[in-house]
Amino acid sequence: MTEMFRDKIDVEITVNGEPVEARVPAGQHLIDFLRQTVGLTGAHASCEHGVCGACTVEVDGASVRGCLMLAAQADGAEVWTVEGLTERGRIADLQAAFIAHNALQCGFCTPGMLVACDELLRRGGTPSRAEIREHLSGNYCRCTGYEAIVDAVETVAKARAGKGAA
Ligand code: FES
Ligand code: FES
Repeated sequence: MTEMFRDKIDVEITVNGEPVEARVPAGQHLIDFLRQTVGLTGAHASCEHGVCGACTVEVDGASVRGCLMLAAQADGAEVWTVEGLTERGRIADLQAAFIAHNALQCGFCTPGMLVACDELLRRGGTPSRAEIREHLSGNYCRCTGYEAIVDAVETVAKARAGKGAA
C-alpha cells in the first residue's frame, strides 16, 4: 500500500441499521472494514479481486463486492451484511430453504450467496431458473453444484409470490 492509501479518512457508515463512525485508511476495502473494524465476519474475503462473490454485502440496496469497494467510498451509505439481514429476519425463509434443499455444504460461499439471492428476491416475481443462475453467476460455490441453490431460491420466489409478498 502506497503512502497515499495509508492516509486516513473519516467515514460515517450505517451498518446493519447502526451508525458507525471511524477513521479508515484511504486504501482499506469495505470487506476489511466490516470484518476487522466492525467485527462482522459473516462476509468472507477470499479472492479479493472481485471474482468469487464471497465478500458480497448490500450497499444502498444493491449487492456489492466488498473487496472492490473502499470503505471510504461507502461514507454515508447504508450497508447490510448477512448478520443484519439475519437479525432482521429478512432472509429467514431463504435460509430455511437453503437448509431444506441442502444448498450449502462447507458454507464458505453462503453469506455472500444469501445477500446476492436476497437482492434478486427483493425484485419480486418468480425468476426463471436461468435468471437465478445468471444473477448468481458471480458467486462461486465449490461444493454444491448450484442445483440445490437454484432450487432454494426458486422455492422462496414462488412462496413469496404466492403470498403476494416481494
Ligand atoms: S473476495 Fe471479493 S469477490 Fe472474492
Ligand atoms: S457450500 Fe462450500 S463453497 Fe459453497
